[in-house]
Amino acid sequence: MSLPDPALVVLVGASGSGKSTWAASHYRAAEVVSSDALRAVVGSGEHDLDASSDAFALLEQVVAARLGRRLTTVVDTLGTDTARRRAWRDAALAAGLPAVAVVIDTTAAVCRARNAARDRPVPARVLTSQLAAVAATVDLLEGEGWQVVRVAPEEQDADRPTAEPARAPVASAEPSGLHGVVLQLSRFPAEGDLLTWLRVMAAAAEEAGLAGLALMDHLIQIPQVGRAWDPIPEPWVTLGALAASTTRLQLGTLVTPVTFRAPGVTAKAAASLSAITGGRAFVGVGAGWWEREHAAYGLGFPSARARLDALEQGIETMKALWAPGTKPYAGQRVSLPETTSYPRPVGDIPVIVGGGGDRTLRIAARLGDGCNVPSDDVGLAKLVRYLALVGQTGRDPATVHATVLDLPLVGRDRDDVWARVERHRGRTPAAAFAARHHAGTATEHAARLAGLADLGITTAFVAPVGLGGPDDVLALAPLATAFG
Ligand code: UTP
Ligand code: MG
Repeated sequence: MSLPDPALVVLVGASGSGKSTWAASHYRAAEVVSSDALRAVVGSGEHDLDASSDAFALLEQVVAARLGRRLTTVVDTLGTDTARRRAWRDAALAAGLPAVAVVIDTTAAVCRARNAARDRPVPARVLTSQLAAVAATVDLLEGEGWQVVRVAPEEQDADRPTAEPARAPVASAEPSGLHGVVLQLSRFPAEGDLLTWLRVMAAAAEEAGLAGLALMDHLIQIPQVGRAWDPIPEPWVTLGALAASTTRLQLGTLVTPVTFRAPGVTAKAAASLSAITGGRAFVGVGAGWWEREHAAYGLGFPSARARLDALEQGIETMKALWAPGTKPYAGQRVSLPETTSYPRPVGDIPVIVGGGGDRTLRIAARLGDGCNVPSDDVGLAKLVRYLALVGQTGRDPATVHATVLDLPLVGRDRDDVWARVERHRGRTPAAAFAARHHAGTATEHAARLAGLADLGITTAFVAPVGLGGPDDVLALAPLATAFG
């Protein structure tokens, strides 16, 4: 059973049907608004019926405030008050949230038995009228526009979420190529032993069954990720260190700007990485975008058009230098008197072109082996265009790498997910931050990535929000098989 999230969830069921039990097993305590619990807040206890009107006044206020923030709200009452129920539905629709009615389908006999076993049972005739009211309500729900979900008693225990166990690694001896989930490391510890940290993170990525590790190529930490004085080691040096402590992972950059190094020098670094890893190197390339780091390091930062020209020339140069032999190269944009470059790469080195401008997509389709775009809707539309462009060049779109950069917020369970949302959202409203990063458990992210695979995407470069230590990497294991 998969419920929309965020959503308004209104429970419908008689006393003892198991509403509160179901809510507690699917949602965080703070997401559940219960008339009984509020009776205990404003009255003498959960059963203080004299406190009902105060409790419901508070309940209405909580529901309105949460829905106004687009936060999931589970209303735990009998659910049979038609006027209140319709007002909640209207508030949800006004906030743009789906309205879900969860009917707890417990038989009257079970409700009665559970009720009788309670410390303070409701009178039998009250329960009888509740059961009748629930039956009448169920008949109204579809007509009121609710998305109706029925929960049978046996499901209540069966699908109770538990903290995800660190599950068995899918590690195979064979490198998987660039197919699957590649972890992008973008933040590095400022203190302690950097090499040890890299080794521990890489070992966790291998154990989790991930396909590779990617490093950004920036001279100064970018503002999207951290502060300018946060460390960001040179990627080709760092990949060399990772090469020595891994056996399966693909290793490369996402992405190397052509403005940083002469492309022949990048070709040399990548060929060397390929040689020392038995063919596990890939190269992400882009036109470069951040003027500040160029200025700081004394590098030129020409016009966008000139940088894209350089991107074309750069890819052509790298491919020429990776080709067999030493013969001269005379291409459309590049001429080289010889192509003497040893060691030779082991197998082909995939060139993934980053950036979503139309010319970039055309360069990727014509000269590259893949492209990388953000995993949002705009990025996905670009990927569709890229695959069409690949087809127009006469290449088989099934032979290229269609890759996305994904920034998921991954938590162990619902409580951990929302604790992380609170920790990292800054001043962004929680619901917006959660939506932007698809905040959820690794299992939920795996299902989402499997949906991307269905669109023809081969690889997700994943940079989890607030990635901590190796435990956070191991927790990505369910994602490893999302691409089949
Ligand atoms: P709940 O306390 O969850 O019922 O379960 P409810 O619908 O919220 O009841 P009201 O309206 O607040 O009175 C009632 C009893 O049934 C048990 C619970 O442990 C509790 O003692 N229960 C519930 C089960 O044994 N199995 C279940 O699947 C659900
Ligand atoms: Mg209850």
